[in-house]
Amino acid sequence: MVTATENTTARVLARCHTLAGFSEDREGTRRTFLSPPMRDCHNEIAKWLAPLGVNVGVDAAGNLRGLYPGATPDAPRLLIGSHLDTVPNAGAYDGILGVTLAVALLEALEGRRLPFAIEVLGLSEEEGVRFGVPFIGSRALVGRLDEELLNRRDANGITVRAAIEAFGLRPGEIPQAILPAEVLGYFEFHIEQGPALEDLGFPLGAVEAIAGQSRLEFTFTGRANHAGTTPMHLRYDSLAAAAEWIVAVEKYAGEVPGLAATVGVIDAKPGATNCIAGQTRASLDARHASDEVRHAAIDSLIRRAEEIAARRELTVGTRTLFDQRAVLMDPYLVEQVARAMREIGCEPHRMVSGAGHDAMILAQRVPAAMIFLRTPGGISHHPSETAQPGDISKAIECGLQLLKQLGESSDFRMRTQRA
Ligand code: HGY
Ligand code: MN
Ligand code: MN
Repeated sequence: MVTATENTTARVLARCHTLAGFSEDREGTRRTFLSPPMRDCHNEIAKWLAPLGVNVGVDAAGNLRGLYPGATPDAPRLLIGSHLDTVPNAGAYDGILGVTLAVALLEALEGRRLPFAIEVLGLSEEEGVRFGVPFIGSRALVGRLDEELLNRRDANGITVRAAIEAFGLRPGEIPQAILPAEVLGYFEFHIEQGPALEDLGFPLGAVEAIAGQSRLEFTFTGRANHAGTTPMHLRYDSLAAAAEWIVAVEKYAGEVPGLAATVGVIDAKPGATNCIAGQTRASLDARHASDEVRHAAIDSLIRRAEEIAARRELTVGTRTLFDQRAVLMDPYLVEQVARAMREIGCEPHRMVSGAGHDAMILAQRVPAAMIFLRTPGGISHHPSETAQPGDISKAIECGLQLLKQLGESSDFRMRTQRA
């Protein structure tokens, strides 16, 4: 059994913090789609990969791609990676740890070649912070970075297309980012970002499915007016209407097992203390393992918003920004992950991911599986997000055991031949 040395683990942790230092903000980590700090990430990771004989490039969607050759020039490839972008005021591990672990696995091979090549993916955008929709990088890999998405604008009116060009990339080359046919599968190591593994006392988890998610924008429109002279019964206050609806969202979700519904963004106009808000925009993020339950929740919460608006003599409009069905991970790869966990002495706890991940997009084109690492305190999307060194060591051992198994497995070679 291969064990991860302490200095490998220490190097992974240190690298996560190095990448976390590449930020758009002076305080805290924020790295959105193709912002300048993303180039610093690419350069740093390329430095790590260069000594391994890895051919590193950046595709037209800004994904870092590093190919570690297999035993033969025509060997099919296995993908290992995660995303390099972050939420505002992020922790140092969400996404990043999946890339630094992928590099650590290549280093641990010490030049050994496997029956498959390994492509490290540093995906350009998973969070959806800059353009309001997630998975720009992984959607390019499966051929879904379409015109509609390329024309989306950020808060400064810059389109995805223009952001790609500003980064020195060519949108016309996006089709070349699409994964080739002979890809065997995709593995993503990721912090769980929740409390389950910590509650169970397990270092790792085998993800069987990723919950579906919907992201919508609700716009309540009333009438702006003077905060001091307008009597309470003569107001058409869009922010008060949104507030009533937000409480209703929380109440509804609390009564549906397994449903997570969140209003994370609210934007009231004109946005002055002494003005009644004429228009208020609110986001809605809804997740559930069952698409049926999620869609029923969305329908109910839209109706609720319409009822509140009607009673207050306001109007409300909704816009669906993103709707991603729940995705099953590849059963064969999940079984290989569970076996690798058993081999290294870890309970192969199978679980559903409440967080969305690039694996749910790549699974549309290649078999995909995820390995979760315990998240102390279940805290994520926050600077105190962390991972335990012992769990990182276990993840490296699990990854090396997985590569060993896949390299030796005749089934996998069969998949290789079928590829
Ligand atoms: O929002 C999510 O589920 C992920 O962390 N991007
Ligand atoms: Mn995230
Ligand atoms: Mn993530």
